[in-house]
Amino acid sequence: MQRSQDWIPGIPYVSALENAEICTVRPEQLDDLDRLCEIDAVCFPAGIAYPREYLSSLLSSPTSIARVAVLDETIVGFAVLEVRERALKKVGELVTIDVLAEARRKGVGQLLHASVERAVSHRGGNKIRLQVSVENEAAIRFYKQLGYRTRGRIPRYYLNTIDAWWMEKKWKDEPKS
Ligand SMILES: CC(C)(COP(=O)(O)OP(=O)(O)OC[C@H]1O[C@@H](n2cnc3c(N)ncnc32)[C@H](O)[C@@H]1OP(=O)(O)O)[C@@H](O)C(=O)NCCC(=O)NCCS
Repeated sequence: MQRSQDWIPGIPYVSALENAEICTVRPEQLDDLDRLCEIDAVCFPAGIAYPREYLSSLLSSPTSIARVAVLDETIVGFAVLEVRERALKKVGELVTIDVLAEARRKGVGQLLHASVERAVSHRGGNKIRLQVSVENEAAIRFYKQLGYRTRGRIPRYYLNTIDAWWMEKKWKDEPKS
């Protein structure tokens, strides 16, 4: 059953990764929830991984944009973002991007990000913000190569002990035609 209304015509569903594997990026569906919880639980330590109830309510929110990446008919990653209104502008707040360890460094994370970024643009936004642990070097590099800039440090953001960077990516508004 389809949950997301966010699929935008024109975004490719299917992309060839650098190693020629085929990756499908599609909107999250209700029956994906178990798999997304499983993936989040192996991508993050206990206490940082999202509880099922939270993920479920987030995914069903009309302000959320969620995409899953499928390789070989198996979901290997997902991205969730919320679109908020700030000073009359739409801003994307990236909640998470998770890719299973065995599917990393193939471009799956980039495809997921491109899909949610396009969805933010489609809703009239031109900015995404996120928080990332200062200890998560892989994710920091990933976001920097996508064009994010570090905007500040949030003390004890995770588990009341680990600091986070807040990062932001802005892009030019797409020309209206
Ligand atoms: C961060 C994450 C989503 C990246 O996913 P991915 O599918 O491996 O990313 P991609 O293959 O699209 O990487 C694109 C580029 O990002 C950078 N990058 C990604 N992972 C990196 C790493 N471990 N070390 C250095 N650079 C990295 C590289 O520039 C990479 O390009 P390259 O492989 O050609 O060098 C993945 O590592 C992950 O799920 N980590 C655990 C969950 C997490 O921390 N999520 C972020 C939450 S804030």
